[in-house]
Amino acid sequence: MGIRFFYSAGDKDKSSEDRKEWKKREEAACIIVAIDFGTTSSGYAFSFTDDPEAIHMMRRWEGGDPGVANQKSPTCLLLTPDLRFHSFGFAARDSYHDLDPEEARHWLYFDKFKMKIHSTSDLTMVTELESVSGQRVRAIEVFAHALRFFREHALKEMKDQSSSLLQRDEVRWVITVPAVWRQPAKQFMREAAYLAGLVSPDSHEQLLIALEPEAASIYCRKLRLHQLIDLSQRPITNSLDQDGSRPFDSSDKYMVADCGGGTVDLTVHQIEQGQGTLKELYKASGGPYGAVGVDLAFEAMLCRIFGTDFIKTFKAKRPAAWVDLTIAFEARKRTAAPGRVAALNISLPFSFIDFYKRHCGHSVETALRRSKVNIVKWSSQGMLRLTTEAMNELFQPTINNIIRHIGKTQLNIQDANDSAGERREIRAAMQFGDTEIKVTAVDVATGRQMRASIDFLSM
Ligand SMILES: Nc1ncnc2c1ncn2[C@@H]1O[C@H](COP(=O)(O)OP(=O)(O)OP(=O)(O)O)[C@@H](O)[C@H]1O
Ligand SMILES: [Mg+2]
Repeated sequence: MGIRFFYSAGDKDKSSEDRKEWKKREEAACIIVAIDFGTTSSGYAFSFTDDPEAIHMMRRWEGGDPGVANQKSPTCLLLTPDLRFHSFGFAARDSYHDLDPEEARHWLYFDKFKMKIHSTSDLTMVTELESVSGQRVRAIEVFAHALRFFREHALKEMKDQSSSLLQRDEVRWVITVPAVWRQPAKQFMREAAYLAGLVSPDSHEQLLIALEPEAASIYCRKLRLHQLIDLSQRPITNSLDQDGSRPFDSSDKYMVADCGGGTVDLTVHQIEQGQGTLKELYKASGGPYGAVGVDLAFEAMLCRIFGTDFIKTFKAKRPAAWVDLTIAFEARKRTAAPGRVAALNISLPFSFIDFYKRHCGHSVETALRRSKVNIVKWSSQGMLRLTTEAMNELFQPTINNIIRHIGKTQLNIQDANDSAGERREIRAAMQFGDTEIKVTAVDVATGRQMRASIDFLSM
């Protein structure tokens, strides 16, 4: 049968005419730059059309957090009080962090803003986004600032690599978006790219809005089998084990689950005989069940302990300290695992402890003691101790959403070798960031129909 499950990141929503046109332009072009605009982190890669297999990843970013791999840059944007671009990524986060608290209230800092485009039902070019300290700006401006940053960064890097100066027309741009995004959201991204000067509306075919899980699938297709099997804790027990070094071929059907910060996106593809192109077995699908749900659950937990009003005021008055707290949580979140028994400590910024005392008249320790949330404790070293139960509570709603969604996935795969009523079980493993999450795929062949479901945690 050959269905496999992979974790990955990032392609096409075009008619075949558009694709032909794109191909023609691609051949004439020199460079293709693809931007992976993520909810939590973003990056880009480029290749030259005379050597398309050589993919150049963007240079490693400056900065980064202890304990967190930084192949991408955080999707964070900082604007000055008069709404000019200041910085993006680690630089934005660090500059914001270093601002004087009073001054920081006038600066505009945006993070985790991508999914607003999906969740806004009446999305228009005047839809607004709110900065951490509460100021509102047109969302299209925020996206355009970020894309302009990528444009400049990529062009500079390419100029450094190639001595002949780039002509604007020589670059073709790709921006990946989640499979679940509807047309208005895709159009919004396109308009933001025009505003950022990636391409002009007159040459719209120089920009491709592609689907993230399809790009991920194309990437996986290029891998050799053993590279995929390496992702598993246990070897996959079928004939592919013996020739793991061979590339994919036309007998292979595979599913890619891209578990991101904002969305979980799925694709099921088969490699077509002869030309080696991909056949879509199911329409790319997904939903807004990404890992930022865990961050939101953490914020809700803080509200239950310290009060919603306090958290709101703290974010507005000490926005940089709030960002510090989210960074501290992020690093600890990545070490959480289903089998972990020890509690996780999260440092509370001094500014939080101090501001709470002044604002509420008693200490955070007292707040924790009085709180009904008894799965979070206070450590004498000034840290919040999140017990295993607390961590489970933060992850559970997001995991339930993923299970509910993926449980709906139904695969109707025609496979002459499947005999009716035969039941087979395939065990695989899947990565979710750095954490291994067990996946059990059970395929029940009833005639020509097969169902597959993924259980993210053995609970
Ligand atoms: N080990 C881990 N355990 C839990 N969560 C993790 C782990 N590693 C990464 N994450 C979470 O995954 C998210 C980042 O994943 P990724 O970089 O694929 O998202 P993205 O590309 O920014 O989002 P999207 O593609 O959905 O817009 C973050 O929310 C991060 O906290
Ligand atoms: Mg992503």
